[in-house]
Amino acid sequence: MSGNIFEHMLGNDSLFKNREVLHHGFTPKKLPHREREIISLANNLVEALNGHIPSNMLLYGQPGAGKTAVTRFVCQQLLRRGAELGVKVNAIEVNCCVVDTKYRVLANIGNELAPRNQTPIPFTGWPSDKVLERLRENMDKQGGVHVIVLDEIDHLVRKNGDGVLYPLTSLNYELRNSRCCVIGITNDLKFTDLLDARVTSRLGSEDLVFKPYVAAQIEDILSERAIAGVREGVLGEGVIKLCAALAAQEHGDARRALDLLRIAVQKAEQNGAQKTDVSHVRLAQNQLEFDQITPVIEALPIHQKFVLYAILLNEMNGLKNVSAGEAYAVYQMVCEKAKINSLVSRSITSVIKNLDSLGLISARTISLGRYGRSNRINSCVPETVDPIAIMEKADPMMVDVVNASYRLQDRL
Ligand SMILES: Nc1ncnc2c1ncn2[C@@H]1O[C@H](COP(=O)(O)OP(=O)(O)O)[C@@H](O)[C@H]1O
Ligand SMILES: [Mg+2]
Repeated sequence: MSGNIFEHMLGNDSLFKNREVLHHGFTPKKLPHREREIISLANNLVEALNGHIPSNMLLYGQPGAGKTAVTRFVCQQLLRRGAELGVKVNAIEVNCCVVDTKYRVLANIGNELAPRNQTPIPFTGWPSDKVLERLRENMDKQGGVHVIVLDEIDHLVRKNGDGVLYPLTSLNYELRNSRCCVIGITNDLKFTDLLDARVTSRLGSEDLVFKPYVAAQIEDILSERAIAGVREGVLGEGVIKLCAALAAQEHGDARRALDLLRIAVQKAEQNGAQKTDVSHVRLAQNQLEFDQITPVIEALPIHQKFVLYAILLNEMNGLKNVSAGEAYAVYQMVCEKAKINSLVSRSITSVIKNLDSLGLISARTISLGRYGRSNRINSCVPETVDPIAIMEKADPMMVDVVNASYRLQDRL
């Protein structure tokens, strides 16, 4: 190959115009189908430009419903308008999945607001009162209204309780030269169940619920992003429609839709195709399913792997809709092959429940009239994923179990 190898790889024959635009971290300039939510949030935050304190708010909705994107968009516009009007407003976003303790949240906000020459609040070590005092000091030094966005707020509260929300929702009593409000964002519709009534009433004075997108809305969103992200003529017939339909099945998740589209174009590119077609979307879907489910299967504790294997073994033997008892009988054989004591049959119920909630199996309880109730258990790992291979790779103990031979019963 002549010339620099990277020059060849970076050639401008890419199907993407700008891959970044199709990444879910990118905040687009337009957010179709979120006009109502944008207006509601803006109606509240405009108070900051009028010199008043906006209400605290809670934003709810399924993952991929546009909560983070809408909040960033409105905050960006707020800051821009504030600068034009010469009104001091500030927005600080904290992702509570990453910054997930009371200390770190307060330190993070305090440091965001720090004047340039100030020594930052250390990562750990200060008493929390001192951190809070520094935070207030810095807010007052800047002046104006501070909008604190706590994204994925349920993570923080689940991990630490609602203690951190007390100081944050009572800052206005102590601040002298500035004001603040808190915008909490969560995927958990029952979030306020985690809170003390006093915190709920302070935090949840206004709620905004983001409904999941329907397929047609996701199509609009994708089309808009594709204009800036993908070269003209690259998306074949039905590509956007299929991405949107698949994502609509996943609780209307716009993030999923963008991932599908981006990976589909990437697959086309890797295959040397000039156009992306629906087969590339299918490949992308398989890839996403695989990436999503593999770590879940890998991380199963060994007995859960055994139970899953027992259910799969029954199915390979032509036995579907098994009862918990039938699964248990095979699971016992599996334990025998692994030379491990089996769990008592009672524990299997909770294992089955767990596998069901992880989406690896579906366990339906049916009533047998006067004969009581029974489970009907089936695996529901997507066909493109090989759970046995994943378990074997993750756990050496599974290798013996998989290679052993079993005398399985057919249903009578
Ligand atoms: N109405 C929309 N228009 C354009 N892109 C959107 C829209 N809603 C969501 N997105 C995009 O979908 C992805 C997921 O949205 P996000 O705001 O992160 O969802 P959430 O925070 O509700 O989980 C992001 O890349 C975002 O830019
Ligand atoms: Mg989000």
